[in-house]
Amino acid sequence: MKFETFQLERQQSTWENKVDYNLSESGVHPGSLKTLFDSEFIEKIVNTELTYGFTEGSHELRQSIASIYSGADPDNIQAFNGSAEANMVAIMSLLEPGDEMVYMVPNYLQIYGFARGLGVEVKTFSLHESLKWQPDLDELEKLVSEKTKMICICNPNNPTGSVMPKETVYAIGEIANNVNAWILCDEVYRGAELSRKECTSFWDIDYDKTIVNCGLSKAYGLPGLRLGWSVSNKQYIQDCWATHDYTTIAIGRLSDMIGAYVLNADNRMKTLNRTRDALSNNLTLFQNWVNTFDGKFKFIPPDAGAMAFAKYDWNINSSELVEKIRDEASVMLVAGDWYGMDHYLRFGYGATASVLEAALDRITPIFKSL
Ligand SMILES: Cc1ncc(COP(=O)(O)O)c(C=O)c1O
Repeated sequence: MKFETFQLERQQSTWENKVDYNLSESGVHPGSLKTLFDSEFIEKIVNTELTYGFTEGSHELRQSIASIYSGADPDNIQAFNGSAEANMVAIMSLLEPGDEMVYMVPNYLQIYGFARGLGVEVKTFSLHESLKWQPDLDELEKLVSEKTKMICICNPNNPTGSVMPKETVYAIGEIANNVNAWILCDEVYRGAELSRKECTSFWDIDYDKTIVNCGLSKAYGLPGLRLGWSVSNKQYIQDCWATHDYTTIAIGRLSDMIGAYVLNADNRMKTLNRTRDALSNNLTLFQNWVNTFDGKFKFIPPDAGAMAFAKYDWNINSSELVEKIRDEASVMLVAGDWYGMDHYLRFGYGATASVLEAALDRITPIFKSL
């Protein structure tokens, strides 16, 4: 088993804590226990015994998560260490070497690289900039066949921030149903919509072979808790639990407790609104900065998430440009190359407004000199 380098994460884990300004992050700036929670809840955390807890997630946590998805109950939920683990366990639980997966691009590429490392045959279908980063459903329909075991989606999308309308979500459900394929949808950016209207979840299509993976890292701005989950049919949840026994045993005890609190129906919107406020304020700031480059950037504003995926019109390779900016300005951006799309840059605009402003000021002279 040989895994290709996961360029985005390799670069982030090497550099994100070394630069002065990290604009490679796709979530909002996280809060601390002290700034986010009241003293009564903090006292409860402080007094919690640090046991293993529950592999599948405590009943309270799974109850909170289930309340997000209509008709779901705690037995439809499995908790994981981040959505990344939920993705990995889904592939390990359902696919064999030689199986065929159909995968949306551009995309985060964790599932892509991991599945290929396991010997899965991965075919791609595209989101098109000319369609405002939506898929061409005819293209998808032609690509899938009886051989397709799984269709993988990321919605809202990383890196474009596009959100598929309800009709597209349901149409993909039909395409999967026609060939009896699983749908695996990574919805880690759901809840971070700039419109403040939560987008349609693939859970809503009510197709039995659907797995929705999500987590606290992006829309909830709490990546350090490493808490993710799968919502799916009850048999899949039992099966992936058995795989989970082999991976990380359980999520962190404190993450389970904090997750149950944050995702509880009484508290959830408070956290999401904090994210949405930060995003709308910062997107205006970023758009104003882009406008100072007289059309050198072409950029469709995201519908969700703290990422802006911009095409640039300078004659320099995106990895070279990102290295130059990192070395000369100590600012980290994401190269389009890491998504297989040169001449694009992904800007994370979810930092605090003052940090975002300072970082953009720092890199302005480099772009002006190109
Ligand atoms: C689409 C997508 N899925 C999963 C992850 C990993 O998220 P987590 O921190 O929840 O494991 C990321 C991180 O950037 C992502 O963009």
